Amino acid sequence: MYYLGIIILSLVVVQLLVFGYEQVSRVRRKNHIFELEKALLKKKIDNIIVQNTKTNDSEWAWSGWRKFKIKSIASENPHIKSFYLVPHDGKKLPRFFPGQYLTFRLKIPGISKPVVRCYSLSDSGEKREYYRVTVRKQLSPESVPEATDGISSCYFHQALEEGDILDVKAPTGKFWLDMTEKTPLVLVAGGVGVTPMLSMINTLDRMGSKRDVWLFYGVKSVEQLIMSEHLKQMSIKHNNFHLHYFFSAPGALGVRAPGSENHGHISCESIFQLGAPIAADFYICGPGAMMDSMVSGLHQQGVSEARIHFESFGPAGIKRGVAKPEVLPEKEETTIPVTFSLSDKTILWSSASGTLLEAAEAAGIQIESGCRAGSCGTCLTAVIEGEIGYIEDPDSDVEKGSCLTCIAVPKSKLRLNA
Ligand code: FES
Repeated sequence: MYYLGIIILSLVVVQLLVFGYEQVSRVRRKNHIFELEKALLKKKIDNIIVQNTKTNDSEWAWSGWRKFKIKSIASENPHIKSFYLVPHDGKKLPRFFPGQYLTFRLKIPGISKPVVRCYSLSDSGEKREYYRVTVRKQLSPESVPEATDGISSCYFHQALEEGDILDVKAPTGKFWLDMTEKTPLVLVAGGVGVTPMLSMINTLDRMGSKRDVWLFYGVKSVEQLIMSEHLKQMSIKHNNFHLHYFFSAPGALGVRAPGSENHGHISCESIFQLGAPIAADFYICGPGAMMDSMVSGLHQQGVSEARIHFESFGPAGIKRGVAKPEVLPEKEETTIPVTFSLSDKTILWSSASGTLLEAAEAAGIQIESGCRAGSCGTCLTAVIEGEIGYIEDPDSDVEKGSCLTCIAVPKSKLRLNA
């Protein structure tokens, strides 16, 4: 009896050991496959980066303006259209980093000077056949009767047709997704701010990325969504893509599954309640108020500045607050007189005034602008007297004696030709 017990016990131990060994082997195999997949993805990414560098720097890249033909136009909803653009010279297109934008020079009938505007690219940065921008028609709010409709967006919607030719600068912008990162990705979009996110999602899809992605997409009502069917297909195809809608006006829910649908505005609390990881890269694009609350909420949660990326549309965007300390006055309360000679106005600039462009706009002084990020050169203004500093580096050399007011602040008493 005693020996029988020993034998049974031994058999159980042996079985347990075999089972344990199998489990360990299975986990090892899984890890091995995961490592191989990671290595494969890295190789793909590295190849694309190398190709990107090559193509951007050589045959397909261009500087200055290039003619593009509108190949087709798609209506996304009553106020938003997508424009598919192909180069008029018939040559290929360079890839771009998802999140970047195109700058357009529009010759609008009845307006003496060309209007320069920037629109985010909304499709994969890996597509070589066409570029796509998705444009919302900017109508003046009923509550502000003196405001006018957006000149360029109305031109895109009401005047442009398939076959029309446009002047376009190469993709640029600092709000882009680093495809070499492996961290989870949290994309927060308000309204048409979803366009750069679509480019990011489509690029990740095209590259077969296994990165975990959350998209929080807020609009007023269901009718304002764009490409919801495409997003639905993405979330069916990838179980690492988590889609959550927010509707600020009440309406019918439950028609865009998978993914959750929520009432109200997107908030920092709500995204974490819905499972967004805190150890992620956050990309935010939308109206100023939404971005303001998201960015400060993320800071309060301890998310580092380096992990928070944002882009605003138009002058209502939040101030970056990342001015290089060496270009700001030593004392915060210091004020500097800035004279706009053509407008015959002098203001007292302080660090709260923001950039020279923002300070001019607040004083009712018109300075043409496009990208508002130091890329397109539209806000270039002659400096008659004084010294300026830049809060960010301009994307290209600025001609001597002038400044890009969208990223400049005064360093001394200043006189500008504006
Ligand atoms: S507005 Fe484009 S560089 Fe200033």
